[in-house]
Amino acid sequence: MSATPSRPPIDSATFCQRMTQSYENRIPADVRTIITEEAIAPLGPRPHIVDLGCGPGLWLRDIAALRPDATLAGYDRDATMLDAARRLGLKHAKWHSADVSAPDFTLRSDSCDVIAAHFFFHFLADPRHLLTMMHDALRPGGSFVMTGWVRSSMADFYAFWGQTRAAIESSSPDAPPPNDPEAFCYQRFAEFNRYTLDDIRWLLDRHGFTTRRDGMYTKNFAYLIAGAK
Ligand SMILES: C[S@@+](CC[C@H](N)C(=O)[O-])C[C@H]1O[C@@H](n2cnc3c(N)ncnc32)[C@H](O)[C@@H]1O
Repeated sequence: MSATPSRPPIDSATFCQRMTQSYENRIPADVRTIITEEAIAPLGPRPHIVDLGCGPGLWLRDIAALRPDATLAGYDRDATMLDAARRLGLKHAKWHSADVSAPDFTLRSDSCDVIAAHFFFHFLADPRHLLTMMHDALRPGGSFVMTGWVRSSMADFYAFWGQTRAAIESSSPDAPPPNDPEAFCYQRFAEFNRYTLDDIRWLLDRHGFTTRRDGMYTKNFAYLIAGAK
């Protein structure tokens, strides 16, 4: 029996391009509207909105258009992503290089009205520090909002990649070997299928959050909005 070969890491430029190109499909307009109506529109003047794992910054770009009075802060560990975000030229945005899962990562207490994590939560093997810190950093009435991968069946995961992989793979350095086109499904299943939506609710509940609204919008992607105080 042969071991499944490990994937070579995808390069930052390709990852950044992929996140930019896929943004509208990954976080569709109707899901963005739910988040906006529930968590952004009700905020008072000059809210402070943070995006963890902000990637190329497109969600904060959309928020800036809706709330030009907001101050925005995006955090990412990848310099290529942050360069792309800076090129958006958002007037009230600051972009920070940080590993937000590190034990010393912190945001000021009671400083944020919304903390977002889009297609980021599945990266977190141990989210306890980050959840504790986010709870402390959110102001009363503030929200944690997220979209992203949640655990689905292997069949649903396979179906998703089956639909998108032709486009993704055409010039990809992480394409599966041509003699084993299913390898991606086995190599990547655990990476993307870490938490169910129930698991995320449970984790949030344990850290003092109250889930206000959530749902699956594809078989693989969920959104969630939670209050902290
Ligand atoms: C799948 S991308 C999503 C980007 C963006 N939120 C979006 O939806 O378009 C995940 C992002 O999280 C960043 N990331 C992953 N782990 C991180 C960590 N521990 N600290 C900071 N950024 C992280 C990656 O560099 C990447 O930009």
